[in-house]
Amino acid sequence: MSGLVLLASDRRVRAGIWTKFDLWLSHRHGFKCPGKVVIRDAGAKGRCAVTSVESEPAILDAHPRDRDQLLDHFNWVRGETERLAAPLSAEDQVIQSMPDASPTKWHRAHVTWFFETMILRAFKADYIPLDEHYRFLFNSYYDAVGARHPRPERGLLTRPSAAKVKAYRDYVDGAMRGFIGHADADTWEEAAPLIALGLHHEQQHQELMLTDILHAFFHNSMAPAYQAYRSSSAYKAPELRWFDYHGGLVEIGHDGTEFAFDNEGPRHSVHLAPFRLASRLVTNGEWKEFMTDHGYGRPELWLSDGWAAVGEHGWESPLYWRQVDGEWLAMSLSGLQQINDQAPVCHVSFYEADAYARWAGKRLPREGEWEVFAREQPVTGNFVGSGLLRTAPATGDAPDRPEQMFGDVWEWTQSPYAPYPGFKAGPGAVGEYNGKFMANQFVLRGGACVTPEGHTRATYRNFFYPAMRWIFAGVRLADDQDGETP
Ligand SMILES: [Fe+2]
Repeated sequence: MSGLVLLASDRRVRAGIWTKFDLWLSHRHGFKCPGKVVIRDAGAKGRCAVTSVESEPAILDAHPRDRDQLLDHFNWVRGETERLAAPLSAEDQVIQSMPDASPTKWHRAHVTWFFETMILRAFKADYIPLDEHYRFLFNSYYDAVGARHPRPERGLLTRPSAAKVKAYRDYVDGAMRGFIGHADADTWEEAAPLIALGLHHEQQHQELMLTDILHAFFHNSMAPAYQAYRSSSAYKAPELRWFDYHGGLVEIGHDGTEFAFDNEGPRHSVHLAPFRLASRLVTNGEWKEFMTDHGYGRPELWLSDGWAAVGEHGWESPLYWRQVDGEWLAMSLSGLQQINDQAPVCHVSFYEADAYARWAGKRLPREGEWEVFAREQPVTGNFVGSGLLRTAPATGDAPDRPEQMFGDVWEWTQSPYAPYPGFKAGPGAVGEYNGKFMANQFVLRGGACVTPEGHTRATYRNFFYPAMRWIFAGVRLADDQDGETP
């Protein structure tokens, strides 16, 4: 029997027999989530024994004051990384399938390096590093910290072993717990926001661990599975509907006390022309219609750079689709599986999303358009805690608002990733976190089925280059209100 932790649902969750899908679905529908539900596979008909309900640490403030709360959160996030890495062997954890992806072992070490570098070396005078080589090996892109191992060569690092990386994590965890408990008040004032940043940074890498191992497994003809296949809903995606927004001057961006990355602010005014937003994500079935209509072969549908990418890479379907005996299958974290036509399409680039929208006679949303709808909703959806690790059909149970705004896939917007008015990167190494990437990328919103619960929010701005497809990205359509009435 294997234990499994889900984030789920509401006060109805008690020890007893539930299906995993019951738990996930009730969470998805916006019930308040009181905590982590620990369940144990019961083996019969996909039902599970709920063995306990644990309290999940609250969402962090940007400037955490309560040391016990921060310590709880620290333990939870660090534990989640190890839980997600646990199904992967030491051999799995070494592989780097392309320069944009990193080995699992490197992710586990790098997030540890972040705490060691930004907190322990910076604030704890008597801290003695476990190994000085790690400063070079596990720096990602921080020029202010110094030279680093080349990113495309992370897969060459057979040493330190996975076991040594675990020892490194334990060593830094011990030092961090001591620091959180005993740092003097002035030091705590300065360091606490950086610890909050480090925890959200680690959650970003948790998502990348799953994203990157899927890419590695895709290149193995055995189509390995990270986890066993789990059934999801048999819902039929509801008919696409449209939600109108009157437009006008609106404020977007973060200005609260809860944690947000620097690129989410300052809050500022933007003008939105009247527009409409689709009620759900574009499905695999709809994407097949685009393919059947020769969407990948019609230059008039594509941006010039997108059409060049089609030619250069030979794109004819989403990244992980394979045709076997005339049927399209898709590589997933549960191996090669049949494609659910009702579930949202995933692993498409910005260029593909844009071409699909043009084929459909619509367009991609601007990030401000997405945000004014998203902020009216609870941040619930098909995140990593659902245990599916793939997209699931919309249910049609929320007739008054767009569905799937959070979870399932990151949604490409047509907004370039640029600084908001008044944005200034902070001083020092952490100033390099987001600001220096504000060129030639596009904003994605919402979070995906591999995103940790509590990590995303309505103002969250993810960003990737327009040809990238290995991320869990999909499509929601938008339209101008002076367009043809759908
Ligand atoms: Fe990082």
